[in-house]
Amino acid sequence: MSQLLITGGAGFIGSHTCLVLLQEGHDLIVLDDYSNSSPVALERVVALAGLQASGERSKERLQLIQGDIRDITCLEKVFIDARNAGKPIEAVIHFAGLKAVGESVREPLRYWDVNLTGSRCLLAAMNTHGCRTLVFSSSATLYGYPKDEPIPESAPIQPINPYGHSKAAVEQLLHDLASSAPNQWRIACLRYFNPVGAHPSGKIGEDPLGTPNNLFPFVSQVAVGRRKSLQVFGGDWPTSDGTGVRDYIHVMDLAEGHRAALDCMLAEPAQLLTLNLGSGQGASVLEVVRAFERASGRPVPYDVVARRNGDAAITVADPAMAFQRLGWQTQSGLDEICRDGWAWQSANPTGYSDQE
Ligand code: NAD
Ligand code: UD1
Repeated sequence: MSQLLITGGAGFIGSHTCLVLLQEGHDLIVLDDYSNSSPVALERVVALAGLQASGERSKERLQLIQGDIRDITCLEKVFIDARNAGKPIEAVIHFAGLKAVGESVREPLRYWDVNLTGSRCLLAAMNTHGCRTLVFSSSATLYGYPKDEPIPESAPIQPINPYGHSKAAVEQLLHDLASSAPNQWRIACLRYFNPVGAHPSGKIGEDPLGTPNNLFPFVSQVAVGRRKSLQVFGGDWPTSDGTGVRDYIHVMDLAEGHRAALDCMLAEPAQLLTLNLGSGQGASVLEVVRAFERASGRPVPYDVVARRNGDAAITVADPAMAFQRLGWQTQSGLDEICRDGWAWQSANPTGYSDQE
């Protein structure tokens, strides 16, 4: 089993992936500045992985470093300390970044800085220390307004906001790097569709700061009584019920996708592999609302309002390549997603701030 560096490992997708990787037997170093997460998430990951009882051994399995991926001195120290401890970092899973589309429109400099400069600093440190295996968090946002449904990886890259532009730039940088030393870099670029849900225990989940921008956390907060009603952005889309259709993927399926991509990168020859991670199934806003009402037994009142700027009618993955290359496909559907999302939301109505 390997020593891995997980940037942004305290975040929503990172925390669920850390759990899967610990259970798989990997030792982890998490580097996170907690700008959009809480250290409580990783305390709960430690407990879920059954590491607490093992005391010192637990610190060996999961080391936490509070730091910024743009801090070169900090990154250097992470790689050097790991080597000096006799456990050099074999691979990196790079989640750290900013992800709110609206905020990226208002603060493009910050988004380019954290997402692109942060990735460049990380890649430079990896290169210096001879660690050239990477799994990168890319996004379906790269496809902008897609022409084909479902969307294959070969679809044109045409992002429509600064967040998407910064992710596309990192993908380009990864291409350039892989081309510069084709026999050295093992890179998996994973384009996630809509990650939602939570670990079935309800102990870890998504904890957005302030008012959620995305559908699933908003619906959960309406069901739990934190918000009065949902605004449905548009009832006149060219879809079966007029509301927007997306490909929702259970965060535990996504975590398994990272495990599979990492195994593939560690086992196969050097390459750059770009994959969609989605279910291939679309669900409309109203289908999500109804599934959440069934799972929670609570009403989710809504009003249909105007369309949101920048939205597409339908975004659904063609996930065939991930199955072909990794043998990976989603296991959970909308009902399991809502069941587990509700387990998290109902046990933690105000997220990790419930912690004493
Ligand atoms: P998240 O905000 O929950 O996690 C990101 C983590 O990175 C947080 O813990 C945050 O504190 C940390 N971080 C941010 N800037 C940092 C910095 N400069 N240095 C160190 N740590 C930093 O987000 P998430 O939903 O878990 O997303 C993880 C990755 O996946 C992101 O790169 C995101 O762009 C990408 N992604 C997310 C989605 C989604 O819908 N959640 C979809 C597609 C792609
Ligand atoms: C959003 C991001 C996208 C990112 C994706 C990852 C925008 C414009 N796009 O996409 O870049 O890759 O998250 O998860 O933010 N909806 C409502 N009411 C709400 C919230 C959403 O009706 O309060 C609708 C939307 O119009 C859409 C669907 O729900 O049809 C899903 O929205 P959301 O969860 O924000 O995800 P995306 O739009 O796919």
